[in-house]
Amino acid sequence: MNIYHVTREFDTFLKRENLSGYKDRIDSILEIYRERPGGLIPVLQQVQEHIKYLPPVVQHYIAMGLGVPSSDVYGVVSFYSFFTMKPRGRHLVRACLGTACYVKGIQRVIDKIETGFNLKMGGTSEDRRFTLQGVRCLGACGLAPVVMVDDDTLGEVDPSKIVKLLEKYE
Ligand code: FES
Repeated sequence: MNIYHVTREFDTFLKRENLSGYKDRIDSILEIYRERPGGLIPVLQQVQEHIKYLPPVVQHYIAMGLGVPSSDVYGVVSFYSFFTMKPRGRHLVRACLGTACYVKGIQRVIDKIETGFNLKMGGTSEDRRFTLQGVRCLGACGLAPVVMVDDDTLGEVDPSKIVKLLEKYE
């Protein structure tokens, strides 16, 4: 793919996602790191902060902007778990899958979240409101079952109340 095609596809992507306002910002991030060795990871972090995920179209644009092969960008994005190629929700819901939470019924909480917001574990609701992840012990076993929503810890979660609790996160 040549520069023209990569840029056109990136512009189309931004437009479709309503993110065109970030184009200048991304260009200036690329400009800052172009000549810097080791600049790829900070660029990916900053771009993901703005547009929330790094699909191939974005990876190609970053590769072109930094003058590195797309395969290098893909290698880093797929290696580190904090980078994602899939869109994430505005809120990250982490359900604890540790032993204490399991014994105290986290699965029933998860079932309610999945049906209440029509998403699957590891997935994102269609309106991109929530992404649901299962995680290992969150270190609050005394409060099991535990769910974290962004930075908020919800303890002793009653499955019948979880949907209502999540409703306040727009
Ligand atoms: S097992 Fe869930 S917080 Fe420890």
